[in-house]
Amino acid sequence: MKQFRKLIGCVLMLALFMCGCSEIPPHPPERTIYPTFQTTSIKGLVKDAANVPIAGATVRIQTTQIHTLSDKQGGFRLDLSEALGPVTISAWKDGYYCGKIEEIVPSSEPITIQLIQYQTNDNPDYVWVPPIGEGSCYSCKPAVTQIWLDNDTHAGSAKNLRFLTMYNGTDVDGNQSPPTRYGYIRDYGSFQLPPDTRQPYFGPGYKLDFPGTTGNCSACHIPSVAIDNPYGIDPNLISGVDSYGIHCDFCHKIADVTLDSSTGLPFPNMPGVLSMDIRRPFPEDPERYQLFFGTFDDDNVPEEDTYLPLMEESEFCAPCHFGVFWDQIIYNSFGEWLNSPYSNSLTGQTCQDCHMPSPSVINGIPITNVAEGSGGVERDPLAIHAHTFPGAMSEDLLQNAVTMQIKTERKDSKIFVSVTITNDKTGHHIPTDSPLRHMLLLVQTLDQDGQTLNFEDGPVIPDWGGVGKPEEGYYAGLPGKAFARILQEVWTGVSPTGAYWNPTRELSDSRLAAMEIDKSEYIFTTPEEGEAKITVTLLFRRAFIELMDQKSWDVPDIVMEEQTIILP
Ligand code: HEC
Ligand code: HEC
Ligand code: HEC
Ligand code: HEC
Repeated sequence: MKQFRKLIGCVLMLALFMCGCSEIPPHPPERTIYPTFQTTSIKGLVKDAANVPIAGATVRIQTTQIHTLSDKQGGFRLDLSEALGPVTISAWKDGYYCGKIEEIVPSSEPITIQLIQYQTNDNPDYVWVPPIGEGSCYSCKPAVTQIWLDNDTHAGSAKNLRFLTMYNGTDVDGNQSPPTRYGYIRDYGSFQLPPDTRQPYFGPGYKLDFPGTTGNCSACHIPSVAIDNPYGIDPNLISGVDSYGIHCDFCHKIADVTLDSSTGLPFPNMPGVLSMDIRRPFPEDPERYQLFFGTFDDDNVPEEDTYLPLMEESEFCAPCHFGVFWDQIIYNSFGEWLNSPYSNSLTGQTCQDCHMPSPSVINGIPITNVAEGSGGVERDPLAIHAHTFPGAMSEDLLQNAVTMQIKTERKDSKIFVSVTITNDKTGHHIPTDSPLRHMLLLVQTLDQDGQTLNFEDGPVIPDWGGVGKPEEGYYAGLPGKAFARILQEVWTGVSPTGAYWNPTRELSDSRLAAMEIDKSEYIFTTPEEGEAKITVTLLFRRAFIELMDQKSWDVPDIVMEEQTIILP
């Protein structure tokens, strides 16, 4: 698919070029016509700063698919079937900044492109580029940045109230649960007791259980500050650029990730930044004052930008989207993806394919130039990815996650309903990562008098689906099914728990793995003949309702699928 898109892109870019509607400055408006009776070519050499030839560099006519690799002596020759006007020739090799030479006319003298190696170490004194404000990402890439600010939850990860209230053991108004109580057994020592429900309780909190420590949360949630002290950052004390959480400059400084070659996963005790190789540059070095990893091997600001193939791979996301607490794997979208057909490199899809789709659209128009007016060049819009990262808040994504099929049958006084849910569009389990998330399948019925049918047999929503009024979202006991991973705190027995910073055990896991099919059946009885209405709804709930009540989180359920069937 990627190859195919690139092909289309090539045709598009060439078309742009040849019509002369490309906006790449400083082209003269009228073009010189070159003879076309023979193929023309551009030849030259790729060398490093010490004039040593570089073999295996990608040499490209900027923004086109016309490219080649430099040979052992650093030499290259780009054969062109069409004569082109002056072009920019770019070169890139792993470990080097992009390089380019502008205004090259085919068949002229051989050219030499020099590549500069970027640094192999990290500068802890580097000051992060802010997403907005003076000298920010916005100054040069306003559209990309606006889309990111408007959509990406990474941008709010340091200030996310659900994260902070879980960290602090408070509700959104700042009321805090009482400190954790402890029991004592002579043979073991002290152990946690369940919360005293006679006192006002605002849900669990890392700080209640581990008051003297700061924890590892920031290693994933606020990485640009945690990088210098992974276990020592209190999320309550974040300021400046770090308060954007996972921001542009941080993600674009990830040079590599460390994975366990035997499992393909990050090492369990190395969350977030601990499994990353970050390269913060040295502003005082005139040749290496800045460094952004990106997806173009022909980038236009050679002294700042370079290409990193890892950015297009799921592995890029692995250090934060896989997380182990005690011996329990908690976050695992990456591991689930790895174990699914989606990780097949030929037929699969990456995290970016689904969560950073291209083109990137702002005000209805696809972005074609990420840094328009700041040295950016026009590109195939399909080469530019939306920094939207849709997730548990996205109706669009959730309504394109599964397929639901319903079969009904009426026999005598019984109605049989069978519901099949197939996870055919999601590259991992549904839900994934945070064990607070779940899906609720509700099978609601009405007879012609508006009364619910008599439920005879089939699964029901468990207690944690909410004991209370169904019209307020408390569905326990109703015909239906829950898809969730239920963890229990080992010491207190509390379940389901979101306090996975404590030792937990898994009680059950009914989530739907990629390509998995779930079938559930329900039998109702109708006292008399007459019309019956069956409504089947699949809801996505961000967190267990009891926890949402304790914390005063107000996040409505999202309807993923809904179908109504009227039986005559
Ligand atoms: C530095 C760690 C880190 C990296 C790298 C990272 N993520 Fe995340 N991601 C997080 C955290 C933490 C959250 C939760 C943010 C929040 O809700 O406050 C998150 C949230 C998300 C969400 C939204 C979840 C929701 O429920 O709305 C998606 C989707 C996502 N990430 C996908 C990705 C993809 C795809 C990549 C790789 C291209 C990636 N992430 C790279 C840490 C990271
Ligand atoms: C290995 C990286 C990692 C670590 C360590 C980590 N998180 Fe997360 N956290 C994530 C990711 C990724 C998500 C997004 C998951 C999703 O949307 O399903 C997330 C989501 C959450 C959410 C859900 C937020 C919402 O809006 O629904 C909460 C709450 C949370 N984390 C709390 C914590 C706390 C508290 C800690 C420390 C005890 C912690 N996390 C440590 C990666 C991490
Ligand atoms: C969670 C990590 C993350 C954050 C935060 C992030 N990016 Fe990216 N960015 C990526 C990844 C991954 C790609 C490559 C996408 C692909 O190839 O599918 C990318 C690609 C790009 C590209 C190249 C064009 C493209 O779309 O492939 C530009 C330019 C860019 N990002 C700019 C920004 C800016 C500006 C911000 C902040 C406003 C930002 N990024 C924030 C991960 C991130
Ligand atoms: C084939 C498309 C596809 C691929 C590939 C994919 N996702 Fe998803 N992702 C989805 C869909 C659809 C949803 C919504 C359903 C759900 O919540 O699981 C989703 C939801 C999410 C969520 C938030 C919702 C939740 O359940 O907590 C996170 C976080 C996430 N994905 C991360 C990732 C990461 C990281 C990767 C790569 C390792 C990845 N995804 C690969 C389609 C995809």
